[in-house]
Amino acid sequence: MCGIVGVVGLEACSETILDSLKRLEYRGYDSSGIVIQSDGALQMNRAVGKLRNLSEMMREAPLDGQSGLGHTRWATHGGVSERNAHPHMAGDKVVIVHNGIIENHVALRVELEGKGHSFSSETDSEVLAHLFLEAFDNGLSAQQAGKEVMARIEGTFALAAMHADHPDMMIVARNASPLAVGLGEGASFIGSDAVALSHLTRDVIYLKDNDYAVIRPEGVEVFDAEGTPVNREVVIVAASQGVVDKGGYRHFMEKEIHEQPDAIAHTLAAMTGPEGKLSTPLAREDLAAIDGIVMLAAGTSHYAAMVARYWIESLARVPVSCEIASEYRYRNPVTGAFSCAVAISQSGESLDTLMAMRHAGEAGLRTIGLVNVPGSTIAREADMVMPTRAGPEIGVASTKAFTAQLTALVSFAVALAEAKGQISVARRDEIHAAIQGLPSMVGRTLGLFDDIRPLAHSLTAARSALYLGRDVLFPVALEGALKLKELSYIHAEGFASGEMKHGPIALIEEGLPVVALLAADEVMGKAASNLQEAAARGGRIILITEERAASTIDFAESVITVPNVDPLLAPVLLTVPVQILAYLTAFEKGTDVDQPRNLAKSVTVE
Ligand code: F6R
Repeated sequence: MCGIVGVVGLEACSETILDSLKRLEYRGYDSSGIVIQSDGALQMNRAVGKLRNLSEMMREAPLDGQSGLGHTRWATHGGVSERNAHPHMAGDKVVIVHNGIIENHVALRVELEGKGHSFSSETDSEVLAHLFLEAFDNGLSAQQAGKEVMARIEGTFALAAMHADHPDMMIVARNASPLAVGLGEGASFIGSDAVALSHLTRDVIYLKDNDYAVIRPEGVEVFDAEGTPVNREVVIVAASQGVVDKGGYRHFMEKEIHEQPDAIAHTLAAMTGPEGKLSTPLAREDLAAIDGIVMLAAGTSHYAAMVARYWIESLARVPVSCEIASEYRYRNPVTGAFSCAVAISQSGESLDTLMAMRHAGEAGLRTIGLVNVPGSTIAREADMVMPTRAGPEIGVASTKAFTAQLTALVSFAVALAEAKGQISVARRDEIHAAIQGLPSMVGRTLGLFDDIRPLAHSLTAARSALYLGRDVLFPVALEGALKLKELSYIHAEGFASGEMKHGPIALIEEGLPVVALLAADEVMGKAASNLQEAAARGGRIILITEERAASTIDFAESVITVPNVDPLLAPVLLTVPVQILAYLTAFEKGTDVDQPRNLAKSVTVE
């Protein structure tokens, strides 16, 4: 996750920008930079490594002016180097900072190079600087330039741009990546979250997806993607901000659901090697030596393990056993068929998972910790660490950490398959390309909130609900049921749809909500027949599926569709509506969404 900040209209603003960047350090960093606009010129300092390296550079070569931008980078496109660090400049006139991924950057770069633009970094972001330069060179106003650039780019972004000849003005835009605008006395600010601005102002505007804005010291004009001026509410943020804020959402959970494009993109970056291939922190020989894996986890993380079992077995042909950590730790497991144990834990602190990992280590297995919190106990004790980069997850119910775990695990499965000689280069590249498309597909799926709201409203009256999925969607059914019950306190169970006829079908009575997960995969036909059996007994089918599979079933009461996706990745995309349904049902019921009763974020007791 990158962090961006900006200031217009404040004397000696470079100190302020540095302070704000420090508040965004939790978003991770491998390099950082600041640009200051002064007397019609742009001056920039960029440094690789921690923020203190940039602070040091700013002490040695101070930059002075009343407007500027800052950035902390977590590399996605292009390695960690000074020239890939933000800000990026075009023609010494335009400068930008960006968080997210510009998916059509290759086509844009080719087009811009054809027009004579020369690039100085390997990043996707640099095209933004050249697009803005082109727009201004064509005589467009700031407002027109913002609209023009928005129309050209695809992907996820929070961005800010400045022009040397337009003092005290910046253009910002966002889609799926967070951006807050702060209103001060004679100065305006931007930041990836309000915490970055909390020492500067309490009056904050959160831009909506596809909004852009022209920011000046005296105020802010916000436009929608069509260039129509829009009013966005000014929110008064609390004076005592914690480390992270709700970003204008009602709950941390709602915010974290929306942060998934970012969380997936940054986790993918952590699982991409310098040569641009999916990789793991393990050496190729270590991967090749893996001949059996035990996965240890609890709750939602356990469901991530169950999805990964399908991926690893089908792609890498390595046997996987998924174990509930609290059970495994007291067993006397036979470990001969396995060479390593993967402990999956968002917090890295779940005592059951930690103890299970220790147990596996004592039994002679190499341990790998898949954790979201660097420096957590599991991260410290595991022989090796695979990180997810979801950023802090505050809502007790795990959302973005789960989809980040899935992203890391599918990348691990592909890297393992490659090391085992089980995957063709063509299939490897096809999967990699499909994973790279996930952030924007998840971004589009987030648009389903309004479609799901009436459905959630109707669920509030239910006493019980079933979730059905088959094959790789079975664990997503389990996750959906867990989310609904823990948040809304409605009894819910997940089943493998093929298992229904062996008992659970007796539960179906007239009007029982049955949330059905379906993808256009090899088992679609069979899964559809299982749903038919549930519908025939009065089950109220709520179908969550890909666009192309929706017509397979004509007996569903409600249908929620997500974009078509490689069947391998369907569990990631179909998880998003399942989360939204649970969130909105709990919201409609008025339960404590972020801190459901009896639960704790990380369970460090037995
Ligand atoms: C459910 C949820 C829990 C956690 C479980 C493990 O929404 O969040 O089921 O997944 O307590 O937590 P971690 O991943 O921190 O070990």
